[in-house]
Amino acid sequence: MNLPEPSSIHRVGVIGTGTIGASWAAYFLARGMEVQAWDPAPDAEAALRAFVDGAWPTLEGLDAVADGASPDRLTFHAGPAAAVDGVGFVQESAPENLDVKRTLYAEFDTALPDGVVMSSSTSGLIMSELQAGFSNAARFVVGHPFNPPHLIPLVEVVGGTGTDASVVDWTIDFYNAHGKKAIRLNHEAPGHLVNRLQVALWREAMDAVLTGLASVEDVDDAIKYGPGLRLSVMGPFELCHLAGGPGGFSNFLDHFGDALQQWMNDMRTVELTPEVRAKLKSDVAEAVGGREYASIARERDTLLLPVLSTLARTRREHGLH
Ligand SMILES: NC(=O)c1ccc[n+]([C@@H]2O[C@H](COP(=O)([O-])OP(=O)(O)OC[C@H]3O[C@@H](n4cnc5c(N)ncnc54)[C@H](O)[C@@H]3O)[C@@H](O)[C@H]2O)c1
Repeated sequence: MNLPEPSSIHRVGVIGTGTIGASWAAYFLARGMEVQAWDPAPDAEAALRAFVDGAWPTLEGLDAVADGASPDRLTFHAGPAAAVDGVGFVQESAPENLDVKRTLYAEFDTALPDGVVMSSSTSGLIMSELQAGFSNAARFVVGHPFNPPHLIPLVEVVGGTGTDASVVDWTIDFYNAHGKKAIRLNHEAPGHLVNRLQVALWREAMDAVLTGLASVEDVDDAIKYGPGLRLSVMGPFELCHLAGGPGGFSNFLDHFGDALQQWMNDMRTVELTPEVRAKLKSDVAEAVGGREYASIARERDTLLLPVLSTLARTRREHGLH
């Protein structure tokens, strides 16, 4: 398949500009790209421009705005075909609904310029089903970001059965060339990889509350004052390798394998019955107390931004990936 050099792409289409699409637009603009956007909501252009203006100071604070980059490089278009005209890459962030996305893909199928990859932000839909029957299906791929994509580097890339293998490689190279951290999934799975990892944690968090092992506050504190700190700098396998001492992961498994097996055998699936949902909702509401949503979001950003900035700078200075 004839695809351009990933780093040569300077104009992208952003389709759907809600929570995720607006964040992608801010990200690509901060990288110095031209962004051609479309979203059918009546107030979408104003909301998108307001989001980008709001995100810009944060991106500048993180030293993440390229020389010459500007929110003025954002144009808003009358429909998907106009928004993908002349672009080198498309990021689709339409609602998480198979029919809505397939209706959109029918438009891309005729409008997408030659050699242009269309990457979907879908959190859980299967690309093989999204792309089925389209003549340009080979250029459709999943590039699932972690919210919010203008701040969090990760993108999971996975192709469907109809995606050309070179498109998966190209998409990973594209994201990495433009400052993201892309990982490859070797096959499709509901929830991709990251949401499955998160759900494993959430399942145990919910189970701990439901069995009375710990309160909502203590479960949250357990993660944020413990494993969460290490998990922001190393992955589970690296951490297990360190836990094994100088003998590394092999020693870890030899010493802790039987205990791990016993703990895994003790874990159970949480059934989200109406009663279970009601109990969790009430416990979380009590733990959150009267704190406003906006104030919790501010607290997250106040703490997260220095972490992101310090990690990016320290990785650069020490040549760590
Ligand atoms: N919210 C998250 O945390 C998150 C994280 C990663 C990925 N995603 C994925 O990103 C995608 C978008 O999710 P979101 O959270 O931004 O949803 P959202 O509801 O905030 O935004 C969806 C946007 O799509 C627009 N839209 C409606 N019909 C459309 C159409 N036919 N074509 C194009 N756009 C249309 C809506 O006007 C809206 O602005 C989904 O596939 C979702 O799974 C979401």
